[in-house]
Amino acid sequence: MKVAIIPGDGIGKEVLPAALSVLDVFGLDIEKVPLEIGFGKWEKTGSAITDDDIALIRQCDCVLFGAITTVPDPNYKSVLVRMRKELDLYANIRPFTPLEKVKLPCAKKFDFVIVRENTEGMYSGVEELHEDVAYSTRIITRKGSTRIAEKACKIAKMRKKQLTIVHKANVLKSDSFFRDVCTGVAKKNDIRYNEMFVDAMAYDMILHPEKYDVIVTTNLFGDILSDEAAAMAGGLGLCPSANIGDKYALFEPIHGSAPDIAGKGIANPIAAILSVKMMLEWAGFNAEAKTIGQAVNNVLDNAIITPDLGGSYSTFDVSNAITKLIR
Ligand code: IPM
Ligand code: MG
Repeated sequence: MKVAIIPGDGIGKEVLPAALSVLDVFGLDIEKVPLEIGFGKWEKTGSAITDDDIALIRQCDCVLFGAITTVPDPNYKSVLVRMRKELDLYANIRPFTPLEKVKLPCAKKFDFVIVRENTEGMYSGVEELHEDVAYSTRIITRKGSTRIAEKACKIAKMRKKQLTIVHKANVLKSDSFFRDVCTGVAKKNDIRYNEMFVDAMAYDMILHPEKYDVIVTTNLFGDILSDEAAAMAGGLGLCPSANIGDKYALFEPIHGSAPDIAGKGIANPIAAILSVKMMLEWAGFNAEAKTIGQAVNNVLDNAIITPDLGGSYSTFDVSNAITKLIR
C-alpha cells in the first residue's frame, strides 16, 4: 500500500508523526510518500497545493492528513475541500463512540456515526462575490445523494440498522430532494429510517444521543453536527474521520491546525492515531486496527493524557505509551 503523508501546518506537524510512530510498530508493507502542502508551502511558494501534488497523491492508495491553516488570501480555496473533490472522496465518515474513562459533558452513553456528503451541497464551490451581494449555490444531485445514502445504509447494516436522515426540507427544496432520495435508498435496502430537521437534530443529539445509530446528512450540516458530536464525545482531540471514495481515501483527525497550541508538544495525538486505525480498517488490517483501539483505551485508563483532557503528558508521551503497549 502506498500512503501520501501530509502533516500540513500547526499541530498537524506534531500529531501526524506521533500517529506514524504507532503505525510503524506493525512493520506493515506500507510505502510512505511525504508531501508538503498547506499554509507553510504557500508562504514559501505562493501556492498551498499544486497540480503536481495532486498527481502524486493520485499515485497513492490513500492519504494520511494532519491539518491545514487557512491561507489569508481572499481567493484561497480550501486545500482539504479541493482534495475531497478531486479525489471524489464523497463520504465523510465520523464515528462518535466515547472512549471509556473520558469525562463527558453528557451523562448518557451513545455510539453513532455521522455520514456526511463530502463533495457538493454548500461546498459545491459555485459562488459569486459582487459589491452588494454574494451567492453560494447549494447543489444537491441525485448521484451524490444516492451514493451517500447507499454508503450510510451499508454502514447501518453492519450496526443497528437504524438510519436518521437529517435535512431542512421544511425550508430548502434541495433538501426535500435529498430526503426523498435517501428515503428511497433506505427502503430499497430494507433499513429502518427516521427523519429529522437539522435544528431539531442539533437539539435532540444532546438530549438523547443514545437514540442514534447512523446519521446521514448533507455537507455543511454534517460539518456542524460533527463538531457538536465531538464536544459530546470528549473533545476534538479524540475524534478521527475517514473521507472515502470508490478509488481513494483520506484519513484525518477532525480537529484543525490549532495555531494557539502549535509547537508546544501538547496536542492530543489520539484523533490522529484513531485516524490511522480507520485507515487500517479500510485497508483490511483489522487485527492491527483493533490493537490500536485497545491500546488507546488502555492509556486513557491509565490517565496518560494531554492537557485538553486534564492531564500533563505531551503528544509523544501519549504516542510512546501506545507504541510501548502494542509492542
Ligand atoms: C472539517 C473542516 C473542514 C470542512 C474545513 C477545514 C474546510 O471543518 O473537516 O470538518 O469544513 O469540512
Ligand atoms: Mg468541520
